[in-house]
Amino acid sequence: MKNQSRIWAFLALTALFSQMACGPTNLSKENIIPKPVSTTPTGDSFGMTDQTNIYIQGESAELQQIGQFLADKLNPSTGLGLDVKVITDTPTPGNILLALSENDPELGEEGYELTITNEMIKLTANKPAGLFHGIQTIRQLLPARVESTSAERGPWKIATGTIRDYPVYAYRGAMLDVARHFFEVDEVKAYIDQLAYYKMNVLHLHLADDQGWRIEIKSWPRLTEYGGKTEVGGGVGGFYTQAEYSDIVKYAQQRYVTIIPEIDMPGHTNAALASYPELNISGKSPELYTGIEVGFSTLATHKEVTYKFIDDVIRELAAITPGPYIHIGGDESHSTSIEDYIPFVNRVQDIVISHGKKVLGWDEIALTTLKPNTVVQYWAKAENAIKGVEQGAKVLMSPAKNAYLDMQYDSTSTYGLHWAAYIEVDKAYNWDPATLVPEIKKENIIGIEAALWSETISKLEEAEYLIYPRLPGYAEIGWTPASLRKWDEYKGRLARHGERFKAMNINFYPSKLVKWDKK
Ligand code: ACM
Repeated sequence: MKNQSRIWAFLALTALFSQMACGPTNLSKENIIPKPVSTTPTGDSFGMTDQTNIYIQGESAELQQIGQFLADKLNPSTGLGLDVKVITDTPTPGNILLALSENDPELGEEGYELTITNEMIKLTANKPAGLFHGIQTIRQLLPARVESTSAERGPWKIATGTIRDYPVYAYRGAMLDVARHFFEVDEVKAYIDQLAYYKMNVLHLHLADDQGWRIEIKSWPRLTEYGGKTEVGGGVGGFYTQAEYSDIVKYAQQRYVTIIPEIDMPGHTNAALASYPELNISGKSPELYTGIEVGFSTLATHKEVTYKFIDDVIRELAAITPGPYIHIGGDESHSTSIEDYIPFVNRVQDIVISHGKKVLGWDEIALTTLKPNTVVQYWAKAENAIKGVEQGAKVLMSPAKNAYLDMQYDSTSTYGLHWAAYIEVDKAYNWDPATLVPEIKKENIIGIEAALWSETISKLEEAEYLIYPRLPGYAEIGWTPASLRKWDEYKGRLARHGERFKAMNINFYPSKLVKWDKK
């Protein structure tokens, strides 16, 4: 018996060493999140060496930037010194090739094809966004330690085969509430990098609420000078100058992430009301607010100055927002009568459209007359979202019971709330936007967004505890066809991402539902 277990141990070690020496050879056993649409393994491996470079086809600043993004991710850990070069001839073996090829309709705007042979890695896509998403797949095919910012040991090998991959939904987003607690520019950028890693493409910033106004508006300076100076619990708050906001937008663009700014109204406006008395029904400003109640504030919907204010805010915001949407909030306006709410939201939609943008709003806005292209974000009431569908609007799926990242995992969770539900990792993953509400069909849905409200969190590390490990699941719901998604299989892939979270210094909740690697 003793001998037999020695033999088994020897065999296991031999298998381990040969795996280390030869690298992975079965592409279909890799743990990519979101799961690709199709994977065809060919049973060999490709190894990167210090001779490997990244070649781009054609002199294009955008391709150069995508290639450099990959080089910058791989060089610190591998030490291989990958350079980005323009290809002039057929590439020599041992390299990575990135090329646009506009003739693969199935791949659409964001899809890619990754072909790995033992001689080279070839990534093609119709559009740069597809190449960028394909690069995230290459990162995930390498060992987790590739994500480290310090030097790591090789070998750097990738299983061979072909992956063809493209998303189910065009909108795969996350929302960050920077109003209840302020998050620094660098924290927002770090989150953008994390979203990009999981092929998500929208970051919705909740920029104004009762507790704080977080974006500089030059024509109404007290919004930030006064209204931005606190947060939940009475901390110092903060705000983004327009230059800082533009820097975030540019950083996001380089990662194929669209920033959608939200100015919540007519409720959730105490910070604005505290800054400017004329916006109040009474003409008097309330105190700044640092609690977490909702529903007590409203703009004066009957006053013309309110619409001058909104026009100025939207004009300035639209001018620095290249993305197509401005989010107008519209939720929980419990201090605004429905008779006032409806004409208010109708007028605000016109203001947004007059500045060349489309409207997004929480599901309550479907109680008004929606303008063409307005999108309804379903968070609470299916009947509202259905009213949106009946008006021909598209729905963004953020049901609080399934997709709110600030909901606690269970009653022992350190951060978060549970007014909508406890959401363990399986529950976060195990739903399908296209069947959740029978009246809301796949063709009515623009995509999914996981929202993170910040009553209980004030820095990125705390946010990450709520974001991880649920975010990769939301990314997969948005990208991978429902027919390919199974919790029992997914949880095995997710387990392998624990090492990646660690290599990326991400603070995650080690859910007991997942068998994390013990390293
Ligand atoms: C919301 O959670 N009040 C949209």
